Amino acid sequence: MHDLARNLNETLKGTCAAELLSDYGRRMYVPKGILVQSAEAKAKASRHNATIGVALEKGNVMYIPSMKEQFAPTMKASEIFSYAPMGGVPALRKVWKEDMVAKNPLLEGKSTSLPIVTCGLTNALSIVCSLFLEIGGSVVLPDMYWENYNLILDEQREANKVLFPLFSGNGFNVKGMEEAIASTTGPVMVMLNFPNNPTGYTPTPAEADAIVDLLKRQAANGRKISVVTDDAYFGLFFDDEPFHQSLFAKLCDADENILAIKCDAATKESMVWGFRVAFITYGCKGMTEEQYDALMQKTMGAIRGSLSNCTMSSQQILLKGMTRESYSSDKMVGVRKLGERYFRLKETLKKHEGEDFLKALPFNSGYFMSFWCKCDAEDLRQRLLNEYQTGIIRSDDHHVRIAFSSVDLENIEDLIDTVYKAASELV
Ligand SMILES: Cc1ncc(COP(=O)(O)O)c(C=O)c1O
Repeated sequence: MHDLARNLNETLKGTCAAELLSDYGRRMYVPKGILVQSAEAKAKASRHNATIGVALEKGNVMYIPSMKEQFAPTMKASEIFSYAPMGGVPALRKVWKEDMVAKNPLLEGKSTSLPIVTCGLTNALSIVCSLFLEIGGSVVLPDMYWENYNLILDEQREANKVLFPLFSGNGFNVKGMEEAIASTTGPVMVMLNFPNNPTGYTPTPAEADAIVDLLKRQAANGRKISVVTDDAYFGLFFDDEPFHQSLFAKLCDADENILAIKCDAATKESMVWGFRVAFITYGCKGMTEEQYDALMQKTMGAIRGSLSNCTMSSQQILLKGMTRESYSSDKMVGVRKLGERYFRLKETLKKHEGEDFLKALPFNSGYFMSFWCKCDAEDLRQRLLNEYQTGIIRSDDHHVRIAFSSVDLENIEDLIDTVYKAASELV
């Protein structure tokens, strides 16, 4: 093990993070060679600085004008073409954290790490799993989850996935989640994604409290738990039913044995799907600044060893956009539009209440809703595609997912009526 990794592990000694790290996580560190020498040269090499691996001219990055012309004149060449600083553009990390606190008032006054920039949320999840999920380690998650988790959990980490049914009746299955955690031994990861893909469900405030209580009960038994909140669809709340803050805001100071890891992104929150800017933020009761720094160093090491660096131009554009005065109100325009579709969908479902061959699962947020179908879900998907030129996703043998986020308001009613019609023809 490298001495720098050993030092970071020493700093983390006594925290649950030290016991939750995977073997890879324990070995991670930020290499100092080129970085330290470049920093020293920046301070002292006033005559010639031949340390930096970019093309410079009179101290500025060189660029090809036909590239620069594609950006607004307000963007400097250094904001487009240079490498981004390790961990992300500092001003963006600060703004994202301030925004996070504004959106999650429970975070006010609580200590967390600074967010670290990753190349999209999938990358954030992959990094976090590499650091905190041992190969073959246990991860607890609801049985309805984003399909892409399989590539990370099964193929990268060969994880022991312990699934519990997401719903009990029409609400979140708190008991199922507690039983699933209790059935594992050793360090355990819990992955929670709300608003959920594929169901569009977010726990109510009472359920959020119950989830935190159950995790605290398990932690009080000595279990070390990393809780990853995948907040991809955060903020897409259209009525008062769901808890409007991230569970991270409650978990980041819940117990010394709980390491809360917030993975969130500009991807959906700021409607910049192709920018590939996401963030990892840590929170744990009793953790010191030095220990947060050690966790950030390990995370930056994992980024350096896989991507080296995240996109500079997207970070800079995001920063400029987020610091415009109109940002919050501009953002709400999109949320309101999705909300109108959500309410139209709920309204349309009322027409079909008695039809027992297709049942909507509970949904209260996000981009999606799911149906349980009596018929084979693939048959329904095929029929919709071939007879009605309508595309939906088959989630499993008896569930399909509808992305109301991608269908215009005026077409929502017809979409739902069509799904019911096709399903009725298959029973
Ligand atoms: C639940 C969930 N998590 C993460 C992501 C990944 O987001 P990104 O595009 O930033 O990688 C998605 C994208 O569809 C998602 O649905």
